[in-house]
Formats: sequence, C-alpha cells, structure tokens
Amino acid sequence: KRRIAIMTSGGDSPGMNPAIRAVVRMGIDKGCDVYGVYEGYEGLVQGGDLIRQFQWSEVRGWLSEGGTLIGTARCMAFYERAGRLKAAKNMVLHGIDALIICGGDGSLTGADKFRSEWPDLVQELVDTKQLTAEQTKPYKHLNIVGLVGSIDNDMSGTDATIGCFSALGRICEMVDYIEATASSHSRAFVIEVMGRHCGWLALMAGVATGADFIFIPEKPRPEKWREEMCAVVAHHRQNGKRKTIVIVAEGAYDQEGNKITPEMIKDLLADKEGLALDTRITTLGHVQRGGSACAYDRYLGTLQGVEAVRAVLDATPDTPSPFIAVNENKITRKPLMQAVLDTKEVANAIAAKDFDRAMSLRDTEFSD
Ligand code: F6P
Repeated sequence: KRRIAIMTSGGDSPGMNPAIRAVVRMGIDKGCDVYGVYEGYEGLVQGGDLIRQFQWSEVRGWLSEGGTLIGTARCMAFYERAGRLKAAKNMVLHGIDALIICGGDGSLTGADKFRSEWPDLVQELVDTKQLTAEQTKPYKHLNIVGLVGSIDNDMSGTDATIGCFSALGRICEMVDYIEATASSHSRAFVIEVMGRHCGWLALMAGVATGADFIFIPEKPRPEKWREEMCAVVAHHRQNGKRKTIVIVAEGAYDQEGNKITPEMIKDLLADKEGLALDTRITTLGHVQRGGSACAYDRYLGTLQGVEAVRAVLDATPDTPSPFIAVNENKITRKPLMQAVLDTKEVANAIAAKDFDRAMSLRDTEFSD
C-alpha cells in the first residue's frame, strides 16, 4: 500500500486547498494512505504531530477555502543536510515513500534535492543506528511530484500556476474600485502589484483594466521612460480621460538596473511643472494572495492534484521528478528540474540585464 504525503511550501496561493483535497481523495480512492505534512518543510523536519493521516471527510469544504489549511513556512533547517536527515527519518517512521509538494520553484527545487539524496540519507540513518536496515528496506526510493502554487505565474513550462488567476482577478477588482474614486476626483493612481521577478500579474492586469502605463521587470523602460510615460498620460488626458492608472510590478527596473518605485512615478505625475496630477499610491499587497480561489484555480488545483497522484502511482525509481503543468488547456507532466532551470535562466537574464533574452524565455502570449 502506497503512503503519500502532501505538503504546501513557500508563499501560499489560492487553489492550494483544492489541490490538497484532490490529492487526499484521489489517493484514498486509489487505495493509498494519504498524509498531510503541516507547516511545510518544518513539519517534515519536526515530524510528530505535524505529519497526520487524512481521512476522506477531513477535506470537505476545502474547495472554497483560501490560503493553505495545512500551513506553510520558510524552513531554514531543511537547507541543512542534518534537517533533511531528520525529515527522511520521519518519513520512514510514518512509512511514507512519496511526497507531493505544492509550492514555488524554490520549494520544488528543495524537494528534488531531497529525492536525489534520499538513498544516502537512508543509508546514513542505518549507519548511525537511528533506524535498522529492516526498517528502511521498503524505502529505497522517494518519489517526488511537484504542483506549482504561486500567484506570480513565474514557472517556466506551464501556462498557469495555481493561484495566479485568483490574484489577477483580485487585482482587477481592486483597480475597478480605485477607478471610481480616481475618476470622481480626476486623480492619478500608481498601483503596485506583486510578482517578485515576474511581470505577468502587472501586465495582464494592465491589459484587463486598460491601464495607462505598466512597468514590469522583464521589459525595463528605456532611459527616457519618464518622458514616454508623461506623454502617454498627457495624451489620454487630452482625450478627456478623468483618471490615470499606472501599474507597477514590485520588481520593476529601468534599463540601467535602477529600481522604479511607485514614489518615483508619483513624483513625476504630480510634478507642478509637468502634468501636476493629484496622485496617490496604492500598494495592493497581500490582498492579492489571500481570499478564496476563483473557479479556474479550484479546477486547476483539482485536476492537477488528481494527476499528481497518478504520477506517483506510475513512477519508477528512474523517472526524474515530474511536475504537473497545464499547456494549452491540457494537464501534462513535465520534468521538474528542467522547468526549474528554465525559470532560473529568466531571473539570471534579468539580473544580467539581457532583457531581450528574458522576454524570449517567457511564454509566448507574454513576450508578444
Ligand atoms: O511569490 C509570491 C509572492 O507573493 C511575491 O509576489 C511576493 O514578492 C512575495 O511572495 C511576498 O512574500 P512575503 O509574503 O513573504 O512577504
């Protein structure tokens, strides 16, 4: 009988609970025992009550719950081998030989490292007499399956991460609210949105709300962005627009690699010698990440959770860890580490100011 654990790690995202629910129910349906690891990697390292078996009815109602009900954490101990050794011991003690993890690329990289070290970790547990050879015998291999949970939509190889459409919807709703008051006072608003190294949220929100101007990390504005933005805004105002909306991703830079902050944009829009607009800044912050998932993320989490269990049951010791993607509306399995490397390449290209490369590495609808 397979014993599968499900864990969430890194920043929470709407749709994680539907994914957990799907893993629990599909796992039980396929005759497996399913365990929840609470508090992310911290739960694996500490074990005990933080690893608990799920019953079918325990995930009832989880489709409409935001965040992650099994908790998440950034766990320093798991970065150390000693922490991973403890984690391996706890897994063997619970009889768990497969881990489905829902998180961002960093969390999924940690999981794959754990998998590659697994035989050594188990051997060390025997050598140091923490476990007997008999106890570890059925646990020669660990299967890892990744589910990508992130509001940023920043993972290569998949069209959407679990949570990104909920966050996008939330941003659009907030921008609509702001527009009413902006228009009433004929004001300008600079709205900062999340998306650490990825401009997907800012770009899509800009398109969906008809923002006047957008700043994203992958396509920094040229040197003359100040003049460019003021000219666009002035043009819109001359055409009778009573509101100005500028959306800036938190990781936006100019071509020199200088951060473009909401304050800088506000000062320009408000400049008495220039547009002289009455300007406010709104940082949307964690309202983008909290709250219940939109229908798409509930559906994506559910279908991908089901597929993750299938991937565990199909895995052989030689299969490289897969992650579950969605490509052109089809749920697919892809090699996890390739996607992680591709994702890192985008971040590296941005850091090296090779912006053409960063854009070309992003998925097509994004780079066009
Ligand atoms: O990666 C998801 C994300 O929401 C980013 O968009 C944001 O930069 C970051 O997490 C915020 O992290 P924290 O909740 O730890 O402040």
